[in-house]
Amino acid sequence: MASHIRITPSILNADLTQINAEIARIASQSDLIHLDVMDNIFVPNFTFDFQAASAIIKACPIGIDAHLMVADVDQIAPAYAELGCESVTIHAEATRDIPGTLRAIRRAGARAGLALKPGTAIEDAAGFVNEVDMFLIMTVEPGFGGQKFMHEMMEKVRKTRAMIGERDIWLQVDGGVSPETICEAAEAGADVFVAGSAVFRAEDPASMIALLRNLAHSVS
Ligand code: DX5
Ligand code: ZN
Repeated sequence: MASHIRITPSILNADLTQINAEIARIASQSDLIHLDVMDNIFVPNFTFDFQAASAIIKACPIGIDAHLMVADVDQIAPAYAELGCESVTIHAEATRDIPGTLRAIRRAGARAGLALKPGTAIEDAAGFVNEVDMFLIMTVEPGFGGQKFMHEMMEKVRKTRAMIGERDIWLQVDGGVSPETICEAAEAGADVFVAGSAVFRAEDPASMIALLRNLAHSVS
């Protein structure tokens, strides 16, 4: 079972008009800041273009975990790595050359993540295991914060954990993670947790992160 727990809060549900202040509220408690980049093509929602994302990444006092929900991500993904993101995650469903793009991300100095939508089987991604630093198992359909955690994805998390074996690969879940659901995901083998609305709707976002971390530790 996973031992190193990481909490990577998503700023999607933060107040985007004062994003740097919102990040400052949680930075000391967070392992990385999860940045959801959406293009209104791969998902029916838009967040940041490359220029706006660059400004956030450059100003962020801690590392960025970029989650790219954009179509034809092959070209832009290494550019996010070059900006200094610690981790860059592409969707299997949006990438033409998956191993080539994962390698390009690594060459540009970031950890390479591969995300799977709920309908994509982990077996489809098994061939990329040696190119991957993190698998992201989506526990909602990508596009929006505040959706309900899909318990039925835990089987996929368990299979992914088994496939990872002794390799040093992080296993992230994203969508609907809260104090009510994080233990189930940790038990299934996840070790990196995105939480958006649970953190930013909390009265005290920093203590919510600490609570999530303690809960995940309690079962792993
Ligand atoms: C959804 C995004 C998530 C989202 C999570 O497509 O990838 O990162 O911000 O938000 P919550 O935690 O509210 O489900
Ligand atoms: Zn995300």
